[in-house]
Amino acid sequence: MKIARFSRIGFILAAAGSAVGLGNIWKFPYITGENGGGAFVFVYLITVLMIGFTLMIAEMLIGYMGRRDSVTNFETLAPRQKSRWKYGGYIGITGLIIMIFYSPVIGWTLHFVLLSFSSLPSSVEIAQKSFTSFISIDLWSQIFYHTLVFIFVTTVVTRGIKGGIEKLNFILMPVLIVTISAMFLYALSLNGFSQAWDFMFAPDWSKLTSASLVTAVGHAFFTLSVGMATIMTYSASLPKESNLVRSSLIVIALDTGIALIAGLTLFTFLYEYGATPSAGPGLVFISLPTVFYEMGFLGHLFSFVFFVALASAGLTSAVSLIEPMVQYLIDRFSYSRLKASLSSGLFFYVFGLVAILSISEEYGSMLTFGSKNFFDWADFITASVMLPIGGLIMSIFVGYVMEKERVASHLKAQLGAVYPLWYFSLRYIVPVALFVVILNLVGLLKL
Ligand code: PHE
Repeated sequence: MKIARFSRIGFILAAAGSAVGLGNIWKFPYITGENGGGAFVFVYLITVLMIGFTLMIAEMLIGYMGRRDSVTNFETLAPRQKSRWKYGGYIGITGLIIMIFYSPVIGWTLHFVLLSFSSLPSSVEIAQKSFTSFISIDLWSQIFYHTLVFIFVTTVVTRGIKGGIEKLNFILMPVLIVTISAMFLYALSLNGFSQAWDFMFAPDWSKLTSASLVTAVGHAFFTLSVGMATIMTYSASLPKESNLVRSSLIVIALDTGIALIAGLTLFTFLYEYGATPSAGPGLVFISLPTVFYEMGFLGHLFSFVFFVALASAGLTSAVSLIEPMVQYLIDRFSYSRLKASLSSGLFFYVFGLVAILSISEEYGSMLTFGSKNFFDWADFITASVMLPIGGLIMSIFVGYVMEKERVASHLKAQLGAVYPLWYFSLRYIVPVALFVVILNLVGLLKL
């Protein structure tokens, strides 16, 4: 039995806290940079609206109606008893696998929070060197930060939906919004802003490849936290009579708004100081710290503020990543919350250690399988494979398996005239788009 529920605003903050994460501030700017800017942003925005919005409502509905862990939700909402659909609920494991690489990356941000006041790199070469040596040689520091993340996340989740997760979001989400907005306002006053604007919003279609299309769709899922039972698990604790449509619109607006603002701010800083937007994953950890160094004292302050914001965004997502498994262990195996949180935490902690070793100089080759090391596999399997599959399962479940009348009785009033459109998108557009993504992926894998 569930006792604690989110408050209305608590739910929105927590769902937005889950959605807004490293994906928005670290990943979105660098994949936009790598994929040529405007055209990529356009595809991403269309995907968020057409696929993300449709699916987020479907996923919320499963949680809201099921009220339990993801496996039980699929089981009880399927029209036939003992349905195999319950296996769809196992998609909730995805979050723990994401945490294998997500936690070490939050660790990097903590490292940079400290660096902000001691030694920012004075040139890109130095930044490159010190970052590479940090992630490939300095294992103990990384393990230290990863341990901090493990302790923090497990403690918060142990305290439950209300006393842990909601409270954390009540503190960190305002921190994140204020810090990012302050930096954005400063960016507005710089000359680099117009270049950044053009880069992000003037599409150059020739830069759009089929691989960047797939990346855009994959990222739309990742950034909205849909397709892996996170939003579903949070929605199981929604207050009665909640408006799912309004909640998803607010969450999507916050998530997209923060990604665009973070992207514009970063690119402005980079253009202003002559760095390039296409620097890849090192954009935030290599190019940006050098820019902060060049800004002088203000730069140190900005660096601190920026990495605190990034760490906050990461931590509020991290708690949401392990909650589906925690809820599953509590509901299905009667674990206490403490035991459920600890075992889920230990899972990502141990495999996270392996991920850290897999990017190191010393153990890297031992932990590389095929074309990728363990760290990259965890990223690839979740963001590119499991999330689209999870999305496909949910769209088919709500679109074809659940009784039409039940779905309509919850959503018709909330969606109004848009309802038929939403239902059509859920039954046809979303599954077809996801199917294409998955097929493409199989093709990509064969290459
Ligand atoms: N949405 C988060 C981000 O953008 C990551 C995440 C994915 C969190 C899936 C929960 C579930 O960083």
